[in-house]
Amino acid sequence: MTQKNTTDQQIRIDIRRATAAAVGAAHGITPEAFQAIEPRILKAHEQMRADREAKKYGFYDLYKEKAVLKEVQEQAAQFVARGYDNLVVLGIGGSALGLTALHTALSAPYHNLMDRDGRKGRPRLFVMDNIDPVTFTAMMQYCDPAQTLFNVISKSGDTAETMAQLMIVVDMLEKSVGAAAMKDHLVVTTGPGNGNGSKSLLHPVAEAYDLITFEIPVNVGGRFSVFSPVGMFPAAVLGMDIEAMMAGCEAMDERCSKASLEGNPAYLRAAVQYMMDVEKGKTMSVMMPYADGLRDVADWYRQLWAESLGKRYDGDNKEVFVGPTPIKALGVTDQHSQVQLYREGPNNKVFNILEVERFTDTLPIPPVMAHLNSLDYLRNSTMNKLMEAELLGTMDALQLSQRPVIRIILPELNAYTLAQVLYLLEVETAMAGQLYNIDAFNQPGVEEGKIIARTLMGDRK
Ligand code: PA5
Repeated sequence: MTQKNTTDQQIRIDIRRATAAAVGAAHGITPEAFQAIEPRILKAHEQMRADREAKKYGFYDLYKEKAVLKEVQEQAAQFVARGYDNLVVLGIGGSALGLTALHTALSAPYHNLMDRDGRKGRPRLFVMDNIDPVTFTAMMQYCDPAQTLFNVISKSGDTAETMAQLMIVVDMLEKSVGAAAMKDHLVVTTGPGNGNGSKSLLHPVAEAYDLITFEIPVNVGGRFSVFSPVGMFPAAVLGMDIEAMMAGCEAMDERCSKASLEGNPAYLRAAVQYMMDVEKGKTMSVMMPYADGLRDVADWYRQLWAESLGKRYDGDNKEVFVGPTPIKALGVTDQHSQVQLYREGPNNKVFNILEVERFTDTLPIPPVMAHLNSLDYLRNSTMNKLMEAELLGTMDALQLSQRPVIRIILPELNAYTLAQVLYLLEVETAMAGQLYNIDAFNQPGVEEGKIIARTLMGDRK
């Protein structure tokens, strides 16, 4: 990956529309507020650096795991060579959302509807991140097991939803291709266990059927695992440019390692969003990409932000009940659904707008229906120009209503720029955790729900 490693492929952050100068001191950040928070950012930076050096959190360095990534790519190539029609991922939460974001952004729209040539010899993708029996039955009816590769992904290796899916799939494979051929149709991605002492149940499964197994490092949480084999193995099977993604991570790591508020895009975004929440009453954070390809980045970020920052106790074990509410939206679609509320409803939101400067396609609007003068403004223009005008129009309208906006601008949407965005948002989340003084890397609220559901199912352990 060399050609994309240039400044014209660098994503940009623009917070000007979130400043007091743009939306007034009641709703925007003042220069004094920036000054006041800077020492906290620099102190938090030291803590984050120490944690990273101590290898407490491994997501920062996943892109450096060359041997792992090579193995992922080699195994993926072997499976691709067998010409499967379908890749079915079994997993939930952090084991599903990252891959979905990558696929929506980097595979062709309507990938699954294309024939094999259209898909460049790659399989269709089905991410099964729910346990709705109707959907799962339909997937099994549609995907001939002999033509399907399943990838079960669970860091803990005991998530009830994923294990139930796996049991159904193992039964189906045993009855169709047979237990001996299971290893040609099922790949395991898992960690050592659930962190509470119990080991991943996926290891004995892999041993029983002699399955290829990828490891999720113990120090990488599910929602921070997209650049581990969790995201990278299926991404490689689908033909995504892994090297470009790693280069994107590296470029963003360099920018996000700076001990600086203004010079570090992750710290800057974390600081603005944090101040918006605790000082300006913007308890909701909307992510609104203006590109269909980025719609699932908003979904991925929604989990990252919610599960990491929504916490009852702070670092001093004090009950705090903090956490901004992340909301996903899509431009321009949601201009006709949400923007009325966003402009005239309560001024309690900060808007994160994701923009793509150059789309891969330019679509002219043809000079038809000449008898309708009122369509002159569209005639001979392009869909691209209309998208741009609507984006700017919405941002200006939000500003007129004193609604703060933070822009993330991608010169193009590709593996290199997308990886920069995801890496940026991960580091931003880690910094936000520091500012809220909470543990951004646990999820006790989720674990309790998991235990209750298992008990209701009759698990007496
Ligand atoms: O981010 C997280 O840790 C969670 O969202 C998990 O990814 C999710 O609960 C699934 O867990 P597991 O991968 O252990 O099956």
